[in-house]
Amino acid sequence: MSGIDAGGPDDSIELGDLTDLADGDMRCFENIGDDGIVVCRVKGDLYALTDNCSHADTPLSEGRLRGYGLTCPLHGAAFDVRDGTHSGPPAWEGVDSHEVDEADGVARVVLARPERRDDGPVADGSHIQTR
Ligand code: FES
Repeated sequence: MSGIDAGGPDDSIELGDLTDLADGDMRCFENIGDDGIVVCRVKGDLYALTDNCSHADTPLSEGRLRGYGLTCPLHGAAFDVRDGTHSGPPAWEGVDSHEVDEADGVARVVLARPERRDDGPVADGSHIQTR
C-alpha cells in the first residue's frame, strides 16, 4: 500500500496510481475509513466499497470479483460494486460505496457518510410495543 494521502481537495483521499489494477482485480486499502476499503476495476472503471461484509465482519477484499459482483469469502453474500447493494441472504443489507475518481494516473476516493443501518428506536412511534 502506498500513496495514501488523507485530506486532499474536496475531502478526497489519494489512493495513488492504480493504472496497474487490471480489469477484474481489486485492491485493499485497510487504513482508509473505519474498516478499510476495497477498490475494484470493472470494465475500465474504479469502484470502492467498505471492506467489511455486512453479514459478519469479513473483508470483502478476500472474496471473489466477477463482473460487478463481489462475493464474500465466508458465506457467499454478493454485493454490487457499483452501489454496495446486496443480492440477498445471508447479508441483510448492503455496504457503503464510495466515489472514486481517476485522473492523470492518480486515483482518489471520497468516503461516503455512513448511513444509519442499525435498528435503533424510531422517533415516529411506528414500532409495535410488545411488553
Ligand atoms: S461474513 Fe460475508 S456472507 Fe457471511
